[in-house]
Amino acid sequence: MLRNSPNAYGLVSRLFHWWLALVIIGLFALGVWMVTLGYYDSWYQKAPHWHVGIGIVFSLLLLLRVIWHRISPKPKALGAPRDQLLAKLGHTTMYLLLWIIVVAGYFITTADGSAVAVFDWFEIPALIKQKGLEQTAGLVHQYLAYALMAFVVIHTLAALKHHFKDKDQTMTRMWRGGVKSNR
Ligand code: HEM
Ligand code: HEM
Repeated sequence: MLRNSPNAYGLVSRLFHWWLALVIIGLFALGVWMVTLGYYDSWYQKAPHWHVGIGIVFSLLLLLRVIWHRISPKPKALGAPRDQLLAKLGHTTMYLLLWIIVVAGYFITTADGSAVAVFDWFEIPALIKQKGLEQTAGLVHQYLAYALMAFVVIHTLAALKHHFKDKDQTMTRMWRGGVKSNR
């Protein structure tokens, strides 16, 4: 099933979840690595080119994901009301952090007035050219990327707790979809 149902994640939401999770972790690792590169390193230009290009494509996919969840609402988290509330808070916080990280990334790149080049496909023009913006946006981008990773770790531990301790369907329904067996 492509669409979500009140109890199950459909294929579209599951593909969005796992592919974007991979991309986010990849962007984080690439970001951490690329800021350590020296000017004479052969990746000094290439790494940001890829980070920014993939980052913008990612943000378009994130937008599609959010729109998809309007069209096909997500199932409620399983477990006690407290768990459901925590899951909702955690998911919302991760979305919020992702959007701020993307916007900050855009401002780091465009603070000097240059457009964001997304590979050779298209460019997004600068909105604001301002001294100091690059540093401020850089700090926001950096700290929130680390905060996001902390949330991802907690989120993963929570998913594992549901699978191994509570033995409920949380993990299987995000991985395999439909709730078929009681395992
Ligand atoms: C999920 C999305 C993203 C994640 C997790 C992420 C993560 C990171 C991380 C961890 C760094 C290293 C920060 C540091 O230690 O200073 C970084 C740097 C950077 N990111 Fe991203 N990023 C994302 C998306 C984007 C996007 C969409 C753009 C541009 C439109 C972007 C532009 C940049 C730039 C220009 C730097 C270099 C900053 C500097 O030189 O200090 N990022 N990113
Ligand atoms: C960058 C990494 C990740 C992000 C940003 C992320 C984000 C999210 C979000 C926002 C949801 C809510 C559903 C949705 O909007 O699609 C969700 C659900 C879920 N995630 Fe992740 N996730 C990540 C990685 C992981 C990992 C590594 C695991 C487990 C090993 C995992 C397991 C799950 C499960 C089981 C659900 C379903 C929860 C439920 O039924 O309430 N996620 N994730």
